[in-house]
Amino acid sequence: MGNPTKTQSWKALTNKTAPTIGYQDHSIQLDGFRFDFSKQRINKDILEELINLARDQNLEDWRNRFFAGEKINNSENRAVLHTACRSRESLSDSPATKEAVKFSLQVLGKMKNFADTVRSGSHKGFSGKSITDVVNIGIGGSDLGPRMVCQALAHLHDKLNVHFVSNVDGADIHQTLECLNPETTLFLIASKTFTTQETLTNAQTAKDWFLKKGTEKDIAKHFAALSTNLEATQEFGISDEMVFPFEEWVGGRFSLWSAIGLSIMLAIGSNKFQELLDGANEMDRHFRDASLDENIPVLMGLLGVWERNFMNSTALAVLPYAENLSLFPLYLQQLDMESNGKSQDRDGDNIEYATAPVNFGQAGTNGQHAFYQALHQGSDIIPTDFIVIKTSPYKTGDHNRKLLANAIAQTQALAYGNGNDFKGERPLSLFLLDELNPRLLGMLVAAYEHKIFVQGVIWNLNSFDQPGVELGKKLAKGILENPENAKNYAYLFKN
Ligand code: F6P
Repeated sequence: MGNPTKTQSWKALTNKTAPTIGYQDHSIQLDGFRFDFSKQRINKDILEELINLARDQNLEDWRNRFFAGEKINNSENRAVLHTACRSRESLSDSPATKEAVKFSLQVLGKMKNFADTVRSGSHKGFSGKSITDVVNIGIGGSDLGPRMVCQALAHLHDKLNVHFVSNVDGADIHQTLECLNPETTLFLIASKTFTTQETLTNAQTAKDWFLKKGTEKDIAKHFAALSTNLEATQEFGISDEMVFPFEEWVGGRFSLWSAIGLSIMLAIGSNKFQELLDGANEMDRHFRDASLDENIPVLMGLLGVWERNFMNSTALAVLPYAENLSLFPLYLQQLDMESNGKSQDRDGDNIEYATAPVNFGQAGTNGQHAFYQALHQGSDIIPTDFIVIKTSPYKTGDHNRKLLANAIAQTQALAYGNGNDFKGERPLSLFLLDELNPRLLGMLVAAYEHKIFVQGVIWNLNSFDQPGVELGKKLAKGILENPENAKNYAYLFKN
């Protein structure tokens, strides 16, 4: 791949005119999972040219290299193999992938054994009581993924209360610890690097709180680490037995399938966690095998490129019609904007075309009473993704029928308007899931992951590093070392 704007297909797309949104069904159905793109402003001709663009950018070749575990994260010289964490068998013949699957299955086995002992009550805390509460301390990918999945599957939590602490603002850990008992609490320190300031600060505060009742030796029963940095976990005082490792080929924002998912497994049990992995693996296989024009992540990516680069849309609203998915838009913000929010290509050269749109969203129907007015009639056209779940685990009156009616009504209003002064023509896709179960959730998340990969290939980006984020970390460190680095704001640090 190279500069996409130099390709024939890009030039051809520049000359196309978007049609009005039609009424024909365009969807792809997998078992229990339907991707419906009937209400996008495209036609056969545009779609064919978008597929040509994918070919011009060698998408199929990049997809092979991705699954084969080649070091496609070139700036960090790393493979990108989160798919190995959710594979029962290797998705490619390459030794790198086979090795990664073998390692992942070993860690998964260790996680299952541990989760089973905690969930059954046989893992005892220092005073002989069973664990009742689990606190995941992490941030970014070491927080958002497991937090989002735990919330999405809240209806399946059975034995343990699971809490998440991420912000370095002391309010977060303070409010969490307030209602916990150290005798029955298990902390999971989730950090790929084990150097992240927020996480280590919160972990230290949790340790100090714990040591008011327990002793140093009791830490072994109450603190586990999910990390790639085994030296740092030891230094923190966590026994090797309580370390659940993963490898550098799992990017932070793609890590919920790895040891970072331990909080999910503790919340819903190892069988259901396995269903989540299996669902994601089903989407991996679909992405690997389906032809480009019938491939859900490929179409998601290309439709996004059409909107972003040729229709000049600047944002994407993700609208889950499920209260339990209310964190999904936040999770996608990191996944998309940290991956593709870039204006240098994979060789470090500046680029002049648009990349990741601003992602935002909220669960329906709440969002309808907040920002939807701008979606319907604002001066910016903002494409939307609706996530609609056919059945609800909460059998409460007729709530679900009303929820569904609202979701479908909104899609009609956005696409077709009122047929009068208010014309609609706002493009959208629908994801229709039979239910919010681990398998279908795994498929949904993996579809978005691969969509972002597809867009990264089209835009000639390395989607797997985050150099901009590192600058903020460095500056904060400098200010802590010397408040004068805060310049006009140095007074904030004085008593
Ligand atoms: O936000 C920047 C980032 O580097 C993310 O990519 C990552 O998920 C997060 O920090 C946390 O990093 P770690 O897991 O190493 O603590």
